[in-house]
Amino acid sequence: MKLAVVGGGSTYTPELIDGFARLRDTLPISELVLIDPAADRLDLVGGLARRIFAKQGHSGTVVTTSDVDAGVADADAVLLQLRVGGQAARLQDETWPLECGCVGQETTGAGGLAKALRTVPVVLDIAERVRRSNPNAWIIDFTNPVGIVTRALLQAGHKAVGLCNVAIGFQRRFARLLDVDPAQVHLDHVGLNHLTWETGVRIGGPEGADRLPGLIAEHGESLASDLGLPRQLLDRLGVVPSYYLRYFYAHDEVVRELRTKPSRAAEVAAMEKELLAMYADPTLDTKPELLAKRGGAFYSEAAVDLAAALLGGGGSPYQVVNTRNGGTLPFLPDDAVIEVQAAVGNAGAAPLPVERVDPLFAGLIAQVTAYEDLALEAALKGGRERVFAALLSHPLIGQYEYAEALTDQLVAHNREHLAWA
Ligand code: G6P
Ligand code: MN
Repeated sequence: MKLAVVGGGSTYTPELIDGFARLRDTLPISELVLIDPAADRLDLVGGLARRIFAKQGHSGTVVTTSDVDAGVADADAVLLQLRVGGQAARLQDETWPLECGCVGQETTGAGGLAKALRTVPVVLDIAERVRRSNPNAWIIDFTNPVGIVTRALLQAGHKAVGLCNVAIGFQRRFARLLDVDPAQVHLDHVGLNHLTWETGVRIGGPEGADRLPGLIAEHGESLASDLGLPRQLLDRLGVVPSYYLRYFYAHDEVVRELRTKPSRAAEVAAMEKELLAMYADPTLDTKPELLAKRGGAFYSEAAVDLAAALLGGGGSPYQVVNTRNGGTLPFLPDDAVIEVQAAVGNAGAAPLPVERVDPLFAGLIAQVTAYEDLALEAALKGGRERVFAALLSHPLIGQYEYAEALTDQLVAHNREHLAWA
C-alpha cells in the first residue's frame, strides 16, 4: 500500500510515523511519501522517519519530495496536513481579531476564516492532482479548518473524509476513567468540526449502555477543569463539550486571557525550533517527548484506523469523522459537513443516525453551519463583500462594525495568499 502525506515536513509527522510503525498490522504500508515544499524540513523529518521505521522493524520505504504530482502518483490514500503560510500566518490569525475584542484562534472566528481563505484553493489544487493520478485514491483531510475544507473537497466531487483528534482524545480519556479498553468506548459525538459535544459514552458499541451521566457525576470536576469551564456548566448541559466550545461559552474571558499571554503560534514556533534541532540528531530514532506538548495527541491512531477502514483492510467499523450530513441532522442542509459517528468502509463514511439534538446545541450548530457555507463561498469566489458576509454571520462576531473592521484586517494580513485581493 502506498500512502502520501502532503505537509509531510511538519514537525508533527514523527507522531504519524510512530503510529504507522506500531500499527503496521492494521495498515501495512509499503511506501510512504512525505511531500513538502520546505526541502530542509523534509530532510530532517524524512531522516527521522526512516530511523523510526528501521528501529521498529518496519520494512516500508520512506520517500521525500517537494513535487506533489510525483509524490501522489499511484498513492492509495493521501493525507493532507498542510498549513498555508506556516506558523507566521497562524500568528496573524491569533492576533488581529483581538483588536476588535474578538477571539483570535486558528480555526474559530475571524482567524479561522482567514485560514479557510488561504487553504481551500491550495487543497483543491492538490486534490485535483490526486484525482488525475488515481481517481480511486482516498483523501484524508486533517487540514484545518477541517469542516470547511472537507466540504470544499466533497462539493468538488473528491473521495474525501475529514478527520480531527478531538473525539479520539475523549475516547481515550473516558476509557481511562472507566478503566476499559479504548476500543470498547463508543462516543455519541455530535456537531461540526471544533464545535462538538459528547452526548453519550457507550460501552461496546452504539447500542451499549450510556455511562456519561455517571462520568460527569464522578469526574465532572477534572473534566471541566481540562476544558477551562466551571463544573456547574457541565452539570447543567448534561453533556461534555469539546474544548473549542470554550471560545463560545467563555468568549470574553478567553479574549482577556489571550491579550495577556503569548500566542499559541509563538509557543508552537519555539517548540518547532527545538523539535527540528532534535530531528537533526542522527541517533534519535523515536518520537521525542516534547511532541506531546503539541495538540495532536492520538492523531496517528485516528489516521491509521480511518485509512485501514477506507482501504478495506480493517479498522474500527464506526469512527468519528467529518462527512456529508445527508439528513442526519435534519435542521442542516444535506450537503453540510458534520462531525459524527459514521460507519466507515471502502465505500466511505455514512453517518449513524443521531438522536434529536437539544436546541441548546442545535441553534449554535445551525448558525456555524451557515457561517461555514458563507466562508466556503468566500474562499471559492473571493471578494471583500463575501468575507464581510461570512464574518457578519459568525455567532462570535455578528455586529457590522466588527465585521467591517475584521474584513479590512483579514484582507490586509493575507493579501499574498488571496488571488483576488
Ligand atoms: C488539536 C486540533 C487540531 C489542531 C491542533 C493544534 O489537535 O484538533 O485541529 O491543529 O490541536 O495543536 P497545536 O499544538 O498546533 O496548537
Ligand atoms: Mn482538529
